[in-house]
Amino acid sequence: MKQQEQFSSRLGFILSAAGAAIGLGAIWKFPYIAGENGGGAFLLLFLIFTMILGLPLLLAEFSIGRTAQQNAVRSFQIIAPGTKWYLIGILGMISVFVLLSFYSVVGGWIITYFWKMITGQLNGLTEPEYAEIFASTIANPAISLGAQLFFMIITIIVITRGVQNGIEQANKIMMPALAILFIILVIRSVTLDGASAGFSFLFYPDFSKVTAHTVLDAMGQSFFTLSLGVSAMITYSSYLPKDQNMPKSAVSIVAMNIMVVLLAGLVIFPAVFAFGMEPDAGPTLLFNVLPTIFSQMPAGMLFFAVFLIVFLFATLTSAFSMLEIIVAVLSRGNKRKRKQWAWIIGFAIFLFGIPSSLSFGLLSDVSLFGKSWFDLADYMVSNVFMPTGALLISIFISFKMKKSALYEEIKSGSNLRFSVFQAWFFLIRYIVPVLIILVMLDVIKG
Ligand code: PHE
Repeated sequence: MKQQEQFSSRLGFILSAAGAAIGLGAIWKFPYIAGENGGGAFLLLFLIFTMILGLPLLLAEFSIGRTAQQNAVRSFQIIAPGTKWYLIGILGMISVFVLLSFYSVVGGWIITYFWKMITGQLNGLTEPEYAEIFASTIANPAISLGAQLFFMIITIIVITRGVQNGIEQANKIMMPALAILFIILVIRSVTLDGASAGFSFLFYPDFSKVTAHTVLDAMGQSFFTLSLGVSAMITYSSYLPKDQNMPKSAVSIVAMNIMVVLLAGLVIFPAVFAFGMEPDAGPTLLFNVLPTIFSQMPAGMLFFAVFLIVFLFATLTSAFSMLEIIVAVLSRGNKRKRKQWAWIIGFAIFLFGIPSSLSFGLLSDVSLFGKSWFDLADYMVSNVFMPTGALLISIFISFKMKKSALYEEIKSGSNLRFSVFQAWFFLIRYIVPVLIILVMLDVIKG
């Protein structure tokens, strides 16, 4: 079997996997979904799901990827030859195809904002004017499709260059920069007059707002932010050398992810309440709130420009991992094929994403199952495909992989105690699948 390309260091891997995880999910999606679901209770549910489902599943995906050292589909074929379990990998490919189709729309929004910013079109406006400019910009099909295409082209080019040159290098600079900028932003946001209402909204759980859908949203959100159930982490860990500590990496990634979610919440909600805006404005929430916060800072527009660059990077690094999943399967380590497939699939994703982009303009009146195309695509991925993939992965790992071999794999590079391994195995075998099924059934019943 051909040896795959590998990450050059543990830090490189952690940052790349964290880069794949941290993106729009934590920064853009979390605040607006939490805003629609009453705030505190949603945050609490999200944290619970992240700890009891997300963390064990992340380690599960790492173990599969590093055991097999192959792409999302081959990994399952190697571990369970002659069975249909590789369909989990195919489901993952379909999921990220749909996912990237709307993810790239939001990526395009960031690019558009950056353009407006450096051409001086955002100077000195008020909050309603920012909202107005943003709405009219994303409603313009030429602009939003052009920006989405641009975003896809960057993604494609990085993926054609392969894992180490492209993904790892970029992440090493951008992830730390993201954290620093966020901390500066939090400081500004929480010191605004009237910010405290935002704290109560985010940290005081109001369970009267919790429905079966809220619970599913929170579960979907925890999978989304950790990139679970779609074999993303299987793909990345297939590039991970055997001497690297997987449990530690998993814990660091979860911790970083939670930190970014909290920081994003602490940036958005205090400002939303301080400026008298509505927390349930939907997908455009972040984009309306941010410029207003920056405009209240000294050298605000400069900070805003830097923030947008870093935000774009966080989004791109997640987008890379999505395209990588598909391209890794199709090109099977062949460099020339990698290039071809990256372009073909990347362009197909762009085409499939056109209706998502137009959901905020030309197609804003079209609804399918009561949702816009954009919202439907997101719902399918976060609340149907990801939980299903995660469920299947938890069943696969507990019934198709040898427990002793799993322990050996996880212990390689880590010294994990057997008792901790047992606890993890119990969670992944019993708690994870049962909980996912219960949450999904509850929604179907409702
Ligand atoms: N976790 C990424 C984010 O939060 C999204 C993602 C999901 C990336 C699945 C890859 C695979 O933005």
